[in-house]
Amino acid sequence: MTVALKQRADSLREDAATGRKFEEENVMRRLEGRLAVVTGAANGIGRASALRFASEGANLAIMDLEADGLEAVAEEARKGGAKVFTKAGDCTKEDFLVDTFKEIYADAGFIDLLMNNVGQSARERASEFYQSNSDVWHFVMDVSLFSTLLASRQVVPSMREAGRGKIVNVASNAGLAGEVGISEYAAAKMGVIGFTRSLARELAPFKVNVNAVCPGVTKTRVIERISDEIVEKIRVSIPLGYFAEPEDIAAVAAFLGSDDARYMTGQSVVVDGGRWMV
Ligand SMILES: NC(=O)c1ccc[n+]([C@@H]2O[C@H](COP(=O)([O-])OP(=O)(O)OC[C@H]3O[C@@H](n4cnc5c(N)ncnc54)[C@H](O)[C@@H]3O)[C@@H](O)[C@H]2O)c1
Repeated sequence: MTVALKQRADSLREDAATGRKFEEENVMRRLEGRLAVVTGAANGIGRASALRFASEGANLAIMDLEADGLEAVAEEARKGGAKVFTKAGDCTKEDFLVDTFKEIYADAGFIDLLMNNVGQSARERASEFYQSNSDVWHFVMDVSLFSTLLASRQVVPSMREAGRGKIVNVASNAGLAGEVGISEYAAAKMGVIGFTRSLARELAPFKVNVNAVCPGVTKTRVIERISDEIVEKIRVSIPLGYFAEPEDIAAVAAFLGSDDARYMTGQSVVVDGGRWMV
């Protein structure tokens, strides 16, 4: 290796979760001084997005069921200089969200970016629709759709009044293309897409952007809930031939949450290695 190449390799920063290396100087600072709220930020896509937002200069307010995981993310973000507020609790519960957002507003005054990331299928509980039941549907709707409505309701009045703000919802390519074994999840995520489009129309006169990111299968613990056989079947159906890292979704969320995406609203951006093409 030449000296120049060796120096470049030494300057690369390693992402603790993935072992991937990236050049620190290439990280943009599009969210400097802004406050980003991320639901479900202790793991996976929410974690990667919160850390990406912080690396772009944002302060964070992050929520999750898992207090320890949340603190670990906060600690990592603080190392880079971000101010971080954490609150452990259930984002499907209106009382929890109302109280938490009140605290955030009391401290920060304005939320620039809300990422509605909480969501989950119930693949491990039910497989095909004929075997599922209304307990499963209520769980999936609450966590994958209702939480998005609830959290959005907390920020829309102030974004409307301020005439600025960004909402990034996490949908899924299952919501667009459908997927065997998770029909209620696909219904909930299509609901997120419909909500994104309608809210975008309502808020466009106020210059508030509302968009969704639709991940394909991403290497989070979600993948552990899927059988090896199905995982391999999905993998070979991806034109790029491999699964997304959470950071691949976070990069698009950071773009949608920044002013670089100011002329986009109501869009559902598919990030799935080309599995779903329109
Ligand atoms: N991983 C994938 O393949 C994939 C694909 C498409 C869409 N998505 C969507 O991406 C989002 C994140 O998924 P992930 O794969 O990172 O999952 P994950 O399980 O790795 O992380 C989800 C986080 O949300 C938290 N959470 C779950 N329910 C909560 C609740 N009620 N209140 C507060 N926190 C809660 C969990 O504790 C966890 O930290 C979800 O909306 C999911 O539907 C994931």
